Amino acid sequence: MKFATKTIHAGQPSEPETGALVAPIFQTSTYEQEAPGQDKGYSYSRTNNPTRERLEAVLAELEGVKHAAVFSSGLAAENAVLQAYLRPGDEVIMPLDVYGGTYRILNRVFQPIGVVPRQIDTSNTSAVEEALSARTRLVWLESPTNPRLLINDIAAVARLAHARGALVVVDNTFATPCFQQPFALGADIVVHSVTKYLAGHSDTIQGAALAKDPAVFEPIKFLQNATGAVPSPFDCWLTLRGLKTLELRMARHEQNATAIANALKAHPLVRRVYFPGLPSHPGHDVARRQMTGFGGMVSFELEGSKEEVVSFISSRRYFTLGESLGGVKALICHPATMTHASIPAEARAELGLSDTLIRLSPGCEGTEDLVEDLLEGLAELERARAARKTVTASSR
Ligand SMILES: Cc1ncc(COP(=O)(O)O)c(C=O)c1O
Repeated sequence: MKFATKTIHAGQPSEPETGALVAPIFQTSTYEQEAPGQDKGYSYSRTNNPTRERLEAVLAELEGVKHAAVFSSGLAAENAVLQAYLRPGDEVIMPLDVYGGTYRILNRVFQPIGVVPRQIDTSNTSAVEEALSARTRLVWLESPTNPRLLINDIAAVARLAHARGALVVVDNTFATPCFQQPFALGADIVVHSVTKYLAGHSDTIQGAALAKDPAVFEPIKFLQNATGAVPSPFDCWLTLRGLKTLELRMARHEQNATAIANALKAHPLVRRVYFPGLPSHPGHDVARRQMTGFGGMVSFELEGSKEEVVSFISSRRYFTLGESLGGVKALICHPATMTHASIPAEARAELGLSDTLIRLSPGCEGTEDLVEDLLEGLAELERARAARKTVTASSR
């Protein structure tokens, strides 16, 4: 079955009782039992719910495995994986520019109970090899990374990690299973901020954790019920609805990102563009090998001051200033003060998260509109600079 067909058909048969084409929202907390302990497979919606089950079935099919558990946020899914696998003394390897929330949960929640987070350049496979030790329990990859869109060689890292007995987790939020299949590359666990491209419309917060091996999945599934961070049936339904257009949306996101990256890279006010589809991007060759598309995100560094960055990101016509990404409506953000603000300033500088770095999440708008909006913003900055020069010259 083709990927696009799976997004529409997998795990989503017509409703058996009524024939309804679209899965209903089973908005119930509890289920009638015929006798104590005798139910129709459902007893309480924290444990199990038919709408949620459908979403889990589709996500599992899209990632090419049998086991998925959805959570009330991406971080709740991450927490379940970390809680399932980390004990005091265990080490976790993670990328230098890992998502700020992942950095925070590892450093502020798990480090105080004895876990040792080790941030390294996971796009450099030799650095991963050096960092692996007998105490490494998890290698946490995010590829492309957020926000510099660095590429980790998942297959190469998985071989090294497995040789040392560590599990490989891939945060597949940015690529989505549409463009990257981490399990086929050797990942043991995949996590998602479903909030982003999978749900796709910026209208729900959800997460997912998936595993290939039932034994690896079991403790995650246990924690879904035991700690209870489950999404509502309505939220699951929203994602089921969003997923049906995942392939169409990803194609447009990528088309827009490619056009934007090409337009920005030629501009004198742009110091550097981060987009895996550019041949000059450091991970371009690995991305070509392990992805079927380069994704929809673009980041760039403005050649200018922080004030100019703030003015640029606050006054775009189609790019709304806001956290998050992956929706049909374009978003723009300033990682240093928004998504990655939880990383201390010094650490941010070391990680290359400069104050002039801007992250774009092009939506599904028309390509020309988005490109023009950005070029117009850069032209405004040029005009403002020229005006400042004239004032300075005339006041001499
Ligand atoms: C790559 C990545 N992983 C995980 C998360 C956390 O997901 P959520 O915000 O749904 O908790 C985010 C959120 O921005 C993210 O960008």
